[in-house]
Amino acid sequence: MRTKIWTMEEGLSGAVEALRQKETVAFPTETVYGLGADATSKEAVSKIFKAKGRPADNPLIVHIGERSQLSAIASSWSETAEKCMDAFWPGPLTVIVPSNHEAAPNVTSNLDTIGVRMPDHPVALELLSKAGVPIAAPSANSSGKPSPTTAGHVYEDLNGKITGIVDGGPTGVGVESTVVDCTSEVPVILRPGGITKEDLERVFGEVQVDPALEGAGDRPKSPGMKYRHYAPDVPLWLVEGDDGRFVTALKYYKEEGKKIGVIASRELARKLDHEPLVECGSREDMGEVAGGLYSALRSFSDTEIDLILCETFKEAGMGTAVMNRLRKAADHTVV
Ligand code: TXA
Ligand code: MG
Repeated sequence: MRTKIWTMEEGLSGAVEALRQKETVAFPTETVYGLGADATSKEAVSKIFKAKGRPADNPLIVHIGERSQLSAIASSWSETAEKCMDAFWPGPLTVIVPSNHEAAPNVTSNLDTIGVRMPDHPVALELLSKAGVPIAAPSANSSGKPSPTTAGHVYEDLNGKITGIVDGGPTGVGVESTVVDCTSEVPVILRPGGITKEDLERVFGEVQVDPALEGAGDRPKSPGMKYRHYAPDVPLWLVEGDDGRFVTALKYYKEEGKKIGVIASRELARKLDHEPLVECGSREDMGEVAGGLYSALRSFSDTEIDLILCETFKEAGMGTAVMNRLRKAADHTVV
């Protein structure tokens, strides 16, 4: 299969037609590129799993363009869910609500709940509205790789495996949506993302976090969170401590003869005299770091370096999602 790339000038008719034909289409959202297919068709959804090499027990998020589409896939929703949608849709927040089992069974991995979100991106919203059906869409990367924030990243991973890619330029937020279990009164964060815990607390007062996210031994409630994820092609180690400690660690591993690639904030980068180095934004603006993170993780190849060293960030605001992704990408290796 040759993967088609649709430019903005070409419009969305080719992509809409492919979705109607139960094919797979990658498209931009405000977080990362998604790999979409008709959520009501088991055959279409199975193509997503196949192209990504995604484990079947990891359910997909369904994307809708209008609130009225919710009743097509959810049996009911709580006041908690309603408040989330009022406050954060369209936007990077996925609500987990009871499923009415109208979505194909492989969308939810046979769970009784379903994840739904309305993305805040003009191209995604236009595509959803023209497709006229709810669209299941995980991130458009090969399973285990960093999520794609450009059409080029999608092409790198999925060329030849999907029907087409709508190229809407780089995405903005850079990390995926926050997944929030809305089946009880107090919302529970299952995956940190583009809407921060602090944002949710402003609406709800009390917000819980799935204990599995904070290192407790529990099995995560969001099935996808148990997998190694976001992994670059080269081993990644996180360096804890201040900038002086990073300088020392870098010198130490270089002296060991390792070819090192560095991912650093602008502030740390200024203190290092090292190549190759990829800057991922200012540590004073974790939104900027989130935006540059996946691209940075994809920028090193194992033919050039042996090890990536990356600094660690404060786990507050968007820093929580950034550190969640970095820990997974590093397989929890912190030095
Ligand atoms: O920003 C995003 O959310 C992107 C864009 C494309 O919308 N999508 C995305 O999808 O990140 P994906 O498949 O890569 O991640 C979906 C996450 C997984 O961790 C999955 O386990 C969880 O949502 N999830 C989906 N349905 C669930 C459910 N019913 N209960 C608990 N977790 C669920
Ligand atoms: Mg993903």
